[in-house]
Amino acid sequence: MKRILTGIKPTGDIHVGNYFGAIKPIIDLWAKHPDSEIYLFIPSMHAFTTLHDPDRLRTNILNGMKMYLAMGADPDRFMIYDQSYIAWHAQLTRVLQCLTHMGFMERMHVYKDAVAKWTATDLSVGTFCYPILMAIDIIMYDATHVPVGKDQIQHVEFARDIAQKFNKMFGETFVVPELFVRKEVQTIIGTDGRKMSKSYNNVLSFLDDENTLLKKVKKIPTSMLGIDEPKNPDECNVYGITKLIITEEEDAMLRDKYLAGWLSFKRAKDYLYEKLVAFMSPIQSKFAALDDDYVRKLLTENAEKANIIAEKKVKDVYQKIGFTL
Ligand code: ADP
Ligand code: TRP
Repeated sequence: MKRILTGIKPTGDIHVGNYFGAIKPIIDLWAKHPDSEIYLFIPSMHAFTTLHDPDRLRTNILNGMKMYLAMGADPDRFMIYDQSYIAWHAQLTRVLQCLTHMGFMERMHVYKDAVAKWTATDLSVGTFCYPILMAIDIIMYDATHVPVGKDQIQHVEFARDIAQKFNKMFGETFVVPELFVRKEVQTIIGTDGRKMSKSYNNVLSFLDDENTLLKKVKKIPTSMLGIDEPKNPDECNVYGITKLIITEEEDAMLRDKYLAGWLSFKRAKDYLYEKLVAFMSPIQSKFAALDDDYVRKLLTENAEKANIIAEKKVKDVYQKIGFTL
């Protein structure tokens, strides 16, 4: 049985990059393999690496849960939970930290980026240990498949390594997870042409109202080519986002127009805006209809289920490493 697992850090509003890089792949996978189990969670403890504003964190967790539900995660079939409700993660953290060498963590891209950005006084130990926390999210629950965007590949590879290492040292305990990167949407580009990311402030968010979306779309930089000049769609950020949310036929027509010089960038942007509104509004309506208390209850109920699985795993680990007498 496949157990597919992923999570989106509640550091901001869920955006188009998260949807295509993480949420849609998991919903599509489940549609293809309806017999598989889906674990979709909120990595609150990962968000706490940088987000230390309690009200914002609370809001983001609640909104994140609602977005999962609004985007098609059926709570009867998906296990939707929050990592911070499960204290067993901390127990396993200590064990795996002691089996991970410093050099290994120092080579992680995300850590290296953080070192380049911050001074040692700003850099937290939590940032350094981030991949260990993430590996635990995955191997605690015997996940078989982990859909993530390109930036997270190295972290999933670390989860595989640490699972293999533990199994070799102490006997078969963890499932070694498979990576699942959707090739055609490896990195969704943001409104400024860089990777769409909350940290770059270049996202199209599902909580943006129509006015905000319009402003963001208008600001997408394009080349200096004139109205009637042929344009290469693959070099255009507007097209890069549009192609994600249109049908194959619409895509073929749009590409033809770009190449023939029948489309100004202004028209391309109007078209993107129109398609974005049509794509986002059903999700936004479902989001708005969800009740906070319903979400809180779901979190508590699913935490109980997750705790049972996690406790069993940690007790097995404790037995194998010699803690249990
Ligand atoms: P952000 O960079 O905005 O902080 P997260 O790090 O919270 O996004 O990403 C959550 C999930 O969404 C991860 O699996 C990540 O790989 C995926 N993801 C985020 N941004 C993109 C993107 N631009 N393209 C593809 N996947 C993305
Ligand atoms: N680190 C991931 C990100 O920034 C989020 C995450 C935490 C995650 N734990 C995970 C993703 C486990 C997949 C599986 O996007």
